[in-house]
Amino acid sequence: MSVLIDGKGFAATLRARVAGHVSGLGVVPGLAVVLVGDDPASAVYVRNKGIQTREAGMNSFEHRLPADTSESALLGLIHRLNADPAVHGILVQLPLPAHLNADLVINAIDPAKDVDGFHILNVGRLGTGQKAMVPCTPLGCLMLLRDRLGSLAGLDAVVIGRSNIVGKPMAQLLLAESCTVTIAHSRTRNLPDVCRRADILVAAVGRPEMVKADWIKPGATVIDVGINRITRDGKSRLVGDVDFAGAAQIAGAITPVPGGVGPMTIACLLANTLTACCRAHHLPEPEGLTA
Ligand code: GUN
Repeated sequence: MSVLIDGKGFAATLRARVAGHVSGLGVVPGLAVVLVGDDPASAVYVRNKGIQTREAGMNSFEHRLPADTSESALLGLIHRLNADPAVHGILVQLPLPAHLNADLVINAIDPAKDVDGFHILNVGRLGTGQKAMVPCTPLGCLMLLRDRLGSLAGLDAVVIGRSNIVGKPMAQLLLAESCTVTIAHSRTRNLPDVCRRADILVAAVGRPEMVKADWIKPGATVIDVGINRITRDGKSRLVGDVDFAGAAQIAGAITPVPGGVGPMTIACLLANTLTACCRAHHLPEPEGLTA
């Protein structure tokens, strides 16, 4: 049976560390979250972000806009937040309604306030080894991997999924740790064979329990980014992209769903907001909060 990687506990410790730094900072970091429309899942995320931001001693500025908000109105809000010295981090909750161009909106955010790390400048900086804002979910995965394995240098890492939010930045982070990185996706041939090479397997595809036990190299570290709601035996439950019960017999260590990667995302958002605030005020950055 594998070691269970306690993302929930790790995230609580990280949030407490962030709160400790905030209390001695002399300036209150501020995070602005923009939600357009009324997607119920997004509303839950945004509410949780607000609660955890305030618990860390930071200011939370929430902007809820109607689903039919025009692009120019949204860009106007972003420009005001860019210019507001009380706002150190800006997050536009995705997905946006279809009539809004997400790339245009994200690239209107001041890169120094882009706590999601989605601005093209931060994507480029991450890919070229320069100081960047790093996307929260992959950053959380990296922290769990470093905590579990120490140095990742020379390990074979397979990332399943090529999204801009998780798969691609995760691969960049692992490459920067000197892993040998493979990005697999829906068109990859012989996916089980590719996965069996992995010392580190990161599953970020959004397909419930797709990764089976016999895809996993014995002793591998498995990071399950998936959060999928399924109904089984008439009951609704959350499962990851990995068949946890089977994989836990083979892997050396594995993240559960829920309680693995999920809680790390908001904890890393708070860490990024603190980092952005320190950079804006030319204060020393606390150790271990970024990649
Ligand atoms: N929607 C799903 N995940 C994310 C995320 O990490 N950031 C933003 N802004 N929206 C999301």
